[in-house]
Amino acid sequence: MSAAPVRKFVLEELENIGSPLRYEEMFHNPEDIDDAKEIMIHLIAEHDLIPLLKTMKKRDHYTFYHSLDVLIIGCLLMNNLYNEPEKLEDAALGFLLHDIGKMNLPQEFAHLKRKLTVEEFEMVKTHTTEGYQWLLENGFSETIARYALNHHERLDGSGYPYGKTEDDFTISEKCLMVVDVFSALTFDRPHRNKFSVTEAIQILLQEDNTFEMNMIFSLMSTLRLNPQEKTGSAEPAEKFETVVKLHPPKKYTASVDAIINWKRNTLAESITTLTNALVEDDRRAAFELFFEMCDGMSIENIFTNVITRTLKEIDHQYKNNYITKKSSIDAAAVIQLVVDYMTRDRTRKLPMNEGNVLLTTGHSDDCIYKEPVLTWYITENLLKIHNWSVDTQSSRLHKSTLMECIEKNKVNIVGFSITTEESFADFSDKAEAIRKNFPEVKITAAHSSLTAINRNVIDFYNVHPKNFLKYAKKCQESWK
Ligand SMILES: [Fe+2]
Ligand SMILES: [Fe+2]
Repeated sequence: MSAAPVRKFVLEELENIGSPLRYEEMFHNPEDIDDAKEIMIHLIAEHDLIPLLKTMKKRDHYTFYHSLDVLIIGCLLMNNLYNEPEKLEDAALGFLLHDIGKMNLPQEFAHLKRKLTVEEFEMVKTHTTEGYQWLLENGFSETIARYALNHHERLDGSGYPYGKTEDDFTISEKCLMVVDVFSALTFDRPHRNKFSVTEAIQILLQEDNTFEMNMIFSLMSTLRLNPQEKTGSAEPAEKFETVVKLHPPKKYTASVDAIINWKRNTLAESITTLTNALVEDDRRAAFELFFEMCDGMSIENIFTNVITRTLKEIDHQYKNNYITKKSSIDAAAVIQLVVDYMTRDRTRKLPMNEGNVLLTTGHSDDCIYKEPVLTWYITENLLKIHNWSVDTQSSRLHKSTLMECIEKNKVNIVGFSITTEESFADFSDKAEAIRKNFPEVKITAAHSSLTAINRNVIDFYNVHPKNFLKYAKKCQESWK
């Protein structure tokens, strides 16, 4: 197809995205935006994509505009990262067609004004594998098809369809993961209003370990959200009144000192408010806040970013005598209800065939405070959602009972929670017995002063729920 009608189509449709000035307002960089538009025109003409895009627009308005949007923003980000035009074209085509698998979903999905049910969401997930197949069958390369397949995967293994991890992705696939979410958040949807650019970035930044953090920082610099890096005539700070300090995770090196136009509470603030509502036993406020915070989050992130952090906060308040033991136990009980509620539907019908895990405790029976046990409860549910069979023993087992349990249930991984130093000897004794009797069984344990015990008997130290799942998947490779 010749370029002229394509140019007209592209320029008109881009005008329809958000405000006519979406990119100009966001990026302050007219040349790069023009380049991205030219790439889009060129690709659509070369691959004769107008009929496909028109069908897409008719079936699913949002996905059509989102696809154009992801191409533009993705190109701007890739340009910022590489400035290598050859790489850019392949990536741009992959960006444009990443959601093509959605064309196979029932059309009413595109117009739902409510959240998807669990079953509907399972169907939506297939747009990754379906898109991959469709692209291969229609003459696109494996490289292009992989964008469709991998764009909902996450670096920590929490994504779909396969739960792949960090090493499985190219840089441009990692770029798409970030841009896809950023684009989605900054569009109005039938069930929610759009987030501002800075709110969207804040949400991405909260997803620790999920996205390539440096990719998010690079997007911020593309968006000129880092006043230190502003160049030329663009003066974004002038457009905003409030300047709020941002503290990105310390392990990343990018120098982001401030972010402007902050509106949404940070997750840390929300967790403090949630904790206060819980310890004051204001359940109604707690539930409301909880569901507001978790809106749109994956279950893994709800568990790790909201629930586990709230538990930690309660534990902290109790240990520092800000609240009574009773308040902390009551608050933890409410959290347990929430975990139950969130997982009930998800764990009911699944075949538990990924492997067998035994979660037990090294602390003594008279430990009343239930926080560590509740952490196991969260881990248990997270593993179950991912089809692991889990047996949780919340009181200390006798050594011989533990051995019987491992043998009888063909346990692959044993997790210990150890809360008091007095239980170190007991733990070491049991761990050594497992080593001797079941050398293939993996042992994990958690305690802040684990250095005090014999590390040789432990395979993995960090039992934060999400890391536990990741580790379990890794172990699986050795026995499958
Ligand atoms: Fe998608
Ligand atoms: Fe998408």
